[in-house]
Amino acid sequence: MGEAVSAMGIAILDTDKETANLLAELIAETGEYPSPYTSKDKFLEVINPKQHSIAIISDEFVDVVEGTKQVYNTIEIIAIGASDGSACLKAGASHFLRKPFRADEIVQVIQALGAPGQTRQAQAESPFVVADAAMGRIMEVIRKVAPTQAPVLIMGESGTGKEVIARTIHALSRRRTGPYVGINLAAIPETLLESELFGYEKGAFTGAYATRVGRFEQADGGTILLDEVTEIGYGLQAKLLRVLQERQIDRVGGKSPVKVDFRVISTTNRDIAGEIKAGRFRNDLFFRLNVIPITVPPLRDRRDDILPLAAHFVHKIASREGIQEKVLGAQAKDALLKYSWPGNVREMENIIERAMILTEGDTISAENIHVDGMSMGDAGALPEAGTTIHDMEKRLIYSTLQKVDGNRTKAATLLGISIRTLRNKLNEYTRGGQISDDFPGDPAGCDPEDS
Ligand SMILES: Nc1ncnc2c1ncn2[C@@H]1O[C@H](COP(=O)(O)OP(=O)(O)OP(=O)(O)O)[C@@H](O)[C@H]1O
Ligand SMILES: [Mg+2]
Repeated sequence: MGEAVSAMGIAILDTDKETANLLAELIAETGEYPSPYTSKDKFLEVINPKQHSIAIISDEFVDVVEGTKQVYNTIEIIAIGASDGSACLKAGASHFLRKPFRADEIVQVIQALGAPGQTRQAQAESPFVVADAAMGRIMEVIRKVAPTQAPVLIMGESGTGKEVIARTIHALSRRRTGPYVGINLAAIPETLLESELFGYEKGAFTGAYATRVGRFEQADGGTILLDEVTEIGYGLQAKLLRVLQERQIDRVGGKSPVKVDFRVISTTNRDIAGEIKAGRFRNDLFFRLNVIPITVPPLRDRRDDILPLAAHFVHKIASREGIQEKVLGAQAKDALLKYSWPGNVREMENIIERAMILTEGDTISAENIHVDGMSMGDAGALPEAGTTIHDMEKRLIYSTLQKVDGNRTKAATLLGISIRTLRNKLNEYTRGGQISDDFPGDPAGCDPEDS
């Protein structure tokens, strides 16, 4: 247990010295050693996100809760006290425990906060590469809609950059100083989703040790991202619709609704019209979410983004791994441009990462660009769906010729065909001695042995 909660850094603020010390001792049994304070000034002097990830603050200090959350929004605040906790929760505490509580209750809350999988606030904005005209048009829409309150629905294949766009909208909005809270609706089991979204009151169910605010309340004053929104069950969709209409949420086990000020952005990589037709997604919810639709094109439809993105990832991986910067060789660039990118930008990041590791010098060659365990340098780009056998055969013949410097005898041997067949095929591909323009170079015309 000590392992799981260690090194989180906890500061306690309570005017009652005995309470503060007792709390510190109780928590110390888990292997975490909190620092107790009774003075607000002293507490404010020491609190800092490098040393503390959790602050336990008595409800007498609503101003400290608010100030701490505003200045250091990565610090999770557990408020404690005799009030109903609403002022502290409104001020930014994520949990409230009413005194008196048992030691195991606060330990449970601390462990839940330290558990992996807790989504934190949005990390520092990462640079967003926009080079292709198609993405330029999307950027214009983003600039226009960001300052408004309108719900945005971002659609696009997996890995196209939907989350990056959502974050950019938040960063360009008036809510940028407020929280950005994401929740992946595909990742959370249906049974837990309601309390995750809307929070719960202490005692609402077994294991509800403390009143807990949900993601909507966490997003108060900011933006909530409903990632993979089509994955939410039909029943909960009705509740979500009501929250969007009424701008207030009901905590599980709560007695009265809580007003929340949020802007909603949602994403999906599914065909949402198909989901509606199949009766899996509510039409009315779709209309609420889809005020501003943004469709992100797949990478294969915005080829001018390919090389700038590749250069961006080379730089990003070099600085992250502390390795030498590298450049892409001409054939590597060619291979990247020809590839169909079924996994979009995410796939590009993985491929460049692998290439950076494989490359020893300062130039990334096509041999070091691997897709599905195959090097692009060996086979050229993998065929896209829609490529004919005839085209594939042509590509294979040319890339083989390139590899053997145009020697047709060697090429025929490698291809497993006769030299006559090879010559016939090359004649068919070339029109009046010209090689068709989709294959640069002139491998067919440079064989001294066979012309
Ligand atoms: N235009 C871009 N500039 C820089 N990095 C990008 C860009 N687009 C995407 N990325 C990076 O590619 C990866 C995938 O992007 P993101 O997570 O936004 O995709 P997604 O559309 O949400 O995918 P999924 O549907 O699978 O959740 C991330 O690491 C992101 O930082
Ligand atoms: Mg995503």
